[in-house]
Amino acid sequence: MDKKILFSLRGVKKYFPLKKESVFQKEQLFVRANEDINIDIYQGETLGLVGESGCGKSTLGRTLLQLYPATEGEILYYGDDPTGENPVDLTKLSKEQIRKMRKDLQLIFQDPYSSLNPRMTVGQIISEGLRSHNIFEKHDEVSQAYTLDVMNKCGLAPYFVHRYPHQFSGGQRQRIGIARSVALKPKFIVADEPVSALDVSIQSQIINLLLDLKEQENLTYLFISHDLSVIKYISDRVGVMYLGHIVELTDTAKLFAHPMHPYTEALLEAIPTIDVENKKKIKILEGDIPSPVNPPVGCKFHTRCVYATDICREVMPAMLELEPGHFVACHHPLGMR
Ligand SMILES: Nc1ncnc2c1ncn2[C@@H]1O[C@H](COP(=O)(O)OP(=O)(O)O)[C@@H](O)[C@H]1O
Ligand code: SF4
Ligand SMILES: [Mg+2]
Repeated sequence: MDKKILFSLRGVKKYFPLKKESVFQKEQLFVRANEDINIDIYQGETLGLVGESGCGKSTLGRTLLQLYPATEGEILYYGDDPTGENPVDLTKLSKEQIRKMRKDLQLIFQDPYSSLNPRMTVGQIISEGLRSHNIFEKHDEVSQAYTLDVMNKCGLAPYFVHRYPHQFSGGQRQRIGIARSVALKPKFIVADEPVSALDVSIQSQIINLLLDLKEQENLTYLFISHDLSVIKYISDRVGVMYLGHIVELTDTAKLFAHPMHPYTEALLEAIPTIDVENKKKIKILEGDIPSPVNPPVGCKFHTRCVYATDICREVMPAMLELEPGHFVACHHPLGMR
């Protein structure tokens, strides 16, 4: 398959300034949420992003969508250029240009309830987006029919159109959030922990809805989750994040069968087994995650890595393509020692 690039991230960095503790503090400190992110996202793929809480997944999704301004780097977007030769650098756009682009680049969050206006019906929530992006100028039969069609695609019954968000369960509210985004006919969606707040029994319904919509609507996803089993199920490729860096990136099957980064290996070993009979002791990743304000020098994982050597404590490993399409940032990649 000839893969077309939709996004190219080049040296993307996102730092949040920390409030100074006192007037005597001279040095400005930063939370280094994203460091030197270099990835391509292909049209039509689901790129999973996994890592422990606080490693910078949501920040990367939001920076990509220009909800946060990048501190450094380029975010090249090829979506509006069929030739693939003249991408737009989203970090260089004006507020107005970004506003226009917003329709194409959507975000689905963990808790859609906080973003659903409690005083608006489902129909109003969906049609408001359509009007604010000038997809339909007025509310008439055509826009009403379109809204019902989108609701149907998202598994929402027509009579829900006059109901309010509080009348729905968590899974149905997530469907409303998805319908509101999909109604705009976006090209790309960042799904940030979209099923993490839902019961396990509901999670697969929402994941399957997202997969169906992706096929029907030709979507590309950045799918963020701390849950490896969800990531394994939905993703074509997976990026593993640790303390603001992507440390491994490859096809889902390869990552789960042959992880090459020690952090990925540790994450996979930490997946709880449901093997109750065996009462196998669940291994957990040992050691605390260092602070992203004052991260370790060298490889950021060295404080917790069982394979660390002197070089790891001094030199930051570069991200290398060790096998075709398999990128790893480690001095001693697994399977290559
Ligand atoms: N708006 C913000 N202001 C300041 N710090 C932030 C902000 N958002 C995230 N952070 C910090 O950036 C780091 C990464 O956070 P986040 O991207 O939310 O991680 P994840 O989604 O992987 O849990 C954390 O240390 C978090 O506290
Ligand atoms: S570079 Fe060293 S410390 Fe870092 S993951 Fe590889 S072996 Fe471990
Ligand atoms: Mg998050």
